[in-house]
Amino acid sequence: MMVPKKKRSIDSSKILSFCFKNSLVLLCLFATACASEEKVKYEQYVISGAEIYKKNCSNCHGLDGSGLRNLYPPIKGSTYLQDKNKLVCIIKNGLEGPINVAGKTYNQKMPAAKGLYDLDIAQLITFLNDKWGSSKKIVEVGDVAGVGCE
Ligand code: HEC
Repeated sequence: MMVPKKKRSIDSSKILSFCFKNSLVLLCLFATACASEEKVKYEQYVISGAEIYKKNCSNCHGLDGSGLRNLYPPIKGSTYLQDKNKLVCIIKNGLEGPINVAGKTYNQKMPAAKGLYDLDIAQLITFLNDKWGSSKKIVEVGDVAGVGCE
């Protein structure tokens, strides 16, 4: 039996559905690529931030963020992590005068972290939040650069 030759007519509805399906696939691919790019960037910030913390902060606040007795307050669980602008200024300018952290009073001088760029601070704060805070979002350089400290 002869198979009849297919008519070579263009079925526009088929083309349309083909395009539709494939552009959706492309869109999805694009969206997931973007999402994972953000995720990779987040991980990079956390890793760099951990290094910056180790070099610049852990001497006083401890590798585990628990501070040092009555001298240095803990970062872990500190409410200071909830105020990004204040945090930026503490890192840039240092801090002195009596403060209360987790029910304890501290009154020592914290030196300014000289030599840290805004990007370093952005990565550092991303790390602090990831490790001891509640936010899992990237702190961008712009979020740091835009903060005016007295
Ligand atoms: C030389 C020791 C020292 C270093 C280094 C240091 N700090 Fe501090 N930090 C202190 C002291 C002391 C205080 C309390 C200041 C006060 O009594 O007013 C403090 C307070 C803080 C506070 C507010 C209170 C709290 O515990 O939440 C934060 C946040 C903080 N430091 C973050 C950092 C970060 C981030 C770094 C690294 C860039 C850093 N510190 C480096 C000694 C230090």
